[in-house]
Amino acid sequence: MSPEPNRVREEKLLEKIAAGGKIETIEEMSDDYRGHLTNLMMMQADSELAGAFGYVPWIQKSPDIKETLQVAQIVKDEVRHARVMYRLLEGLEVDVDEYYRSHNFNLRVDKDDIGTLRAADDKRVNIFYYPIERWSDFIMFNFCMDRGAGHQLEDSLDCSYKPWCDGMEGIFKEEEMHMAHGDQWAKRLSQDDKTHDDIQAAFDKWYPRTMNIFGRANSPKNAIYRKYGLKKRDNDEVRRAFAADVAAKAAAFGLKVPDWKPVAAQMSDEPFIPG
Ligand SMILES: [Fe+2]
Ligand SMILES: [Fe+2]
Repeated sequence: MSPEPNRVREEKLLEKIAAGGKIETIEEMSDDYRGHLTNLMMMQADSELAGAFGYVPWIQKSPDIKETLQVAQIVKDEVRHARVMYRLLEGLEVDVDEYYRSHNFNLRVDKDDIGTLRAADDKRVNIFYYPIERWSDFIMFNFCMDRGAGHQLEDSLDCSYKPWCDGMEGIFKEEEMHMAHGDQWAKRLSQDDKTHDDIQAAFDKWYPRTMNIFGRANSPKNAIYRKYGLKKRDNDEVRRAFAADVAAKAAAFGLKVPDWKPVAAQMSDEPFIPG
């Protein structure tokens, strides 16, 4: 049996999604749907992996043995998330082994601000190009970025591609634990006079970087993702939910939320996905 023409697959797929149904097989996908889905999942997979690699040195540099185990667990979680996502991509006929071999997920930039630009041809969300140089960076990465990822990934939990929803369930729970780790430490470091300024400085660094990951408001690409049921909200709506969540935590912990302005000229069309 020859496959249905692309136009027919597209019509059927949109109908199914509009009726609240989910896509489960590659045969049901139109070329466009498959392309956008692959792109979004690739962004998540690369971010999970680059995130894990960036944390690795902190297994050894953590403040105590309890934290060494904690960081090792987080690294393992992120590698698992990457593996889950790459397996889904294999299901979409991506040559993951070749891709893995030909990209450097250890690459980091030495600039303080790359706005919304990427530093290489992998698809990680650009915050994963910054190095984690201090313990307070690690904590603020958990506090800001894991929280940002949580807000962004909320849409994938109930997106139109069923295998992605299924994979996200476990990932989401683990991300919540990473965020809780960041919260505990952010509170503790902020409320101690000796460490308050250091954790505030890390907040000043990581908050704007996280605010930059969500993509610009009313982007045409976001509209396509929503048409395909791969996203549910506008980029700016997700960013505002994240900002409100952070503001409440910061107030409770005695931290001052830094200023942030959209990077107008280079604001990416590409909404972030995960970490
Ligand atoms: Fe995480
Ligand atoms: Fe993750």
